Order: sequence, then structure tokens, then C-alpha cells
Amino acid sequence: MSTEIQVKRITPRDIKLMKGGQPIVVLTAYTAPMARLMDPHVDIQLVGDSLGMVLYGMDTTLGVTLDMMIAHGQAVMRGSERSCVIIDLPFGSYQESPQQAFRSAARVMAETGAAGVKLEGGTEMAETIEFLTRRGIPVLAHIGLTPQAVNVLGGFRAQGRGDQEAATIRSDARAVTDAGAFGVVIEGTVEPVARAVSLEIAIPTIGIGASPACDGQVLVVDDILGLFGTFTPRFVKRYAELGAEAEAAVRTYAAEVRSRSFPGPEHCFGIEGAGKGTPS
Ligand code: KIV
Repeated sequence: MSTEIQVKRITPRDIKLMKGGQPIVVLTAYTAPMARLMDPHVDIQLVGDSLGMVLYGMDTTLGVTLDMMIAHGQAVMRGSERSCVIIDLPFGSYQESPQQAFRSAARVMAETGAAGVKLEGGTEMAETIEFLTRRGIPVLAHIGLTPQAVNVLGGFRAQGRGDQEAATIRSDARAVTDAGAFGVVIEGTVEPVARAVSLEIAIPTIGIGASPACDGQVLVVDDILGLFGTFTPRFVKRYAELGAEAEAAVRTYAAEVRSRSFPGPEHCFGIEGAGKGTPS
């Protein structure tokens, strides 16, 4: 008899039921080791297309492919057992039509086993969100600053300033709710608008550069660990400086290799009495 305890994964339905309750904790995840480390602590691991910039050094997310998202989605699924894994549909894989979106999302779901997909867009994507959710694919929407639309938004700038932009974000939020999204990411949006949206709609809002009034918060994990770049956006809080620590470790390793102080006898095979781990 197996004594293994099967952990139940958090589902998109569970997330939807968290509206107005304990804040929903979300971080991006791209690799199995990091997914394993985060699994006990977060509700959603989001395999964001930000991986194009964070892991691959791209300037924007536009060059990310469906195959990249699937490979990283599989890694995150292997590394996690409890959290709800949601995978971004990358630019160009869903905007053309609901049918194209379904084909892309179905591949993601079938090849990774993730719980759902995220896609960017509000009113203009409502038909697609409804098409997917009616066919069994849970959708997390993403409104406000939508990085895949950086070229029409005129750069990475906060959204919702002025009555017109605020009204657009509020109607986007209503449209994705009515279309059946189980939650919505609100990115880079002025606080009062994100707050108003969170009060107005019936699904959880997940803020990033938005408002503490959102039902949950998401950040890029490499940002909070101090691993990504020198520029830290205003909405990021750095909880560690692992980049500096990693650089120091590499610097020490290089110095030890050059001075021949690494490897020591304890790292070598076949040296008698050189310490634990030495095979006979
Ligand atoms: O791509 C991403 O990581 C995201 C989050 C930052 C919301 O969309």
C-alpha cells in the first residue's frame, strides 16, 4: 500500500471563489526548481510570457512562441503539485480568431496539463474568452497595461489616467467578466481605477502596479528576488538580492579556479582519506 499523499491542486474555480476573501498570491514561474520552491506558498504560478524578457533577454514579449510557453509550462507543472498553474498565450497565437485561440489553448492544456490560460485584452477579446470557456478552457484575462500591445500603447506607461482611459478599463473589466473569465490581471493601472474595478466586478482582480484593493497580487519572481536587471519598476518590491549574491559566488569560483584552490582533495576521486563522499 502506498503511503504517498496526493495533494489536491488549486483550481480556477477555487480562485474565483476567493473573490473578496483572503488575498490571492500569484508569482510568475518559468522553471521546475523555482516552481518547487514556490509551490507551498503561492495560489497561482503564472507561466508568463515575461519569460521572453526575463530568461531570454528579449526587449519585449512579442518574440515569445507557443512552443516556448509549452516547454516552460511543462517544467513548472513538473515542479509543482499544489498551486494552480496558468500559462500565457503568447503574441500572435490567439488574436486572429476564437478558433485560432482555441487551437493554441488546447495545445497548451493538452501538452502541459496546466489549469488554464491567460490572454491579454478586454472588450475586443470577450468573444474569444467566451469561446474558450464554453469549450472547457479556463481563462484568466489581462487588462490595463497589456505588454503585447506595447506598440499601440506607446510604451510601458501607466493606464487609466483621464476619464476616457478609465472608462475603457472599467468596460474591459465588465466585458471579460461577462465573457466567463475566472479572474483578471490588472496591470500598470492608476490606483483609483483598479480599486473601482475590484469593487465593481464579480471575479477576482489580480493587481500588478495597480492597487492594494485588488483581490490578489502578482509580480515577476525574478524581480522580487533581485535577479532581473538593474532597473526596478516602482511597483516591484525586492525581497532579496540574489543577483548580487550569485555574482559574488561566480567571482569567488573564478578566483579559486585561477589560483588552483578549487578543486580541493575533497572534490576529487581516488585520494585516500580526502573526506566524505570520496568513493573507494
Ligand atoms: O507575462 C507575465 O509575466 C505577466 C504578469 C507579469 C502579469 O503577464
